[in-house]
Amino acid sequence: MLIKTKNEKETINLGKNIIKYIKIPCVIVLSGDLGAGKTTLSKGIAKALNITELITSPTFTILNEYKTSKTNLYHFDMYRLNSLDEALELGFDEYFNKNDGVILVEWEENVKGLIKRPYYKITIKKESNNEREISLEEIL
Ligand SMILES: Nc1ncnc2c1ncn2[C@@H]1O[C@H](COP(=O)(O)OP(=O)(O)O)[C@@H](O)[C@H]1O
Ligand SMILES: [Mg+2]
Repeated sequence: MLIKTKNEKETINLGKNIIKYIKIPCVIVLSGDLGAGKTTLSKGIAKALNITELITSPTFTILNEYKTSKTNLYHFDMYRLNSLDEALELGFDEYFNKNDGVILVEWEENVKGLIKRPYYKITIKKESNNEREISLEEIL
């Protein structure tokens, strides 16, 4: 699947709709440069899960957790981590065994090897200031 968006709102909407192509529980890796729109897309995914809280970037906390009566959203931003060992020291491997919602991961490349199950990968490419090319694939 490959879709282009022209502004932030379209990317949020895509996040809302992309959930139809995804089987929950799951892990979703969000790949793309700084400012590509990973956190923006996460806002749409949260909406699809009926999470009403404001989704903010977990850059400083590394993990933001959102819970509803139906499901959970674990939103990771591994930007500040330098290795898989650091993630293991923080006990994050435990989260990746969870099957009670959606686990979103930004900057997974910093903690390669942490995910030991099939996952979805959404790649966001910045084409211009406001245009993004967004693709979804399954990594088995
Ligand atoms: N089509 C678009 N999709 C998503 N974000 C966009 C788009 N066009 C412009 N933007 C802007 O790009 C920035 C993306 O930021 P963010 O989602 O935090 O990126 P990341 O999490 O990948 O670092 C926001 O400031 C947003 O307003
Ligand atoms: Mg981000």
